[in-house]
Amino acid sequence: MRRAIYPGSFDPVTNGHLDIIQRGCKLFDEIIVAVLVNPDKQAFFSIEERSEILKEVLKDIDRGDCTVIVESFQGLMVQYASERKANAIVRGIRAISDYEYELQMALMNRRLQPRLETVFMMPAEEYSYVSSRLVKEVFHLGARIDGLVPTIVEERMKKKNAI
Ligand code: PNS
Repeated sequence: MRRAIYPGSFDPVTNGHLDIIQRGCKLFDEIIVAVLVNPDKQAFFSIEERSEILKEVLKDIDRGDCTVIVESFQGLMVQYASERKANAIVRGIRAISDYEYELQMALMNRRLQPRLETVFMMPAEEYSYVSSRLVKEVFHLGARIDGLVPTIVEERMKKKNAI
């Protein structure tokens, strides 16, 4: 069985992330969407909220025969990937600017765990500028984010902002 880990912050999950998961489903039998627990980073949604939202939105996407599960992890990603017996890491690359950082991470991860391959995937062009960071920024400044994130994400962001 070919199992991949798709690690990230997912704060929040965007349509670009979902696009990558769907593409990954064409290559892997199982994808573990792994949310990084990072106490040093100020997040909009908690780990529990991010995981809950991911599980909710993943119900609606076409996954074919692929199993997609959501987990969270702490510490070294390659160690977590080994524990979960994954064959590969999936990462989305939107632009050349992503590539430099992603290449560095992929090579460091390869040094740490040579058996684990990193697979870079490109999202659909319409998501090539979409990032969780920009979504949060424009949302907080009052702009519309429909089409960039699943509807439930937008609803949850509005709800959280209203508290
Ligand atoms: O969505 P992000 O924030 O770009 O994801 C970054 C992530 C989670 C893939 C990366 O920060 C990571 O793997 N962190 C876990 C700690 C680790 O293994 N660091 C060494 C990376 S070479």
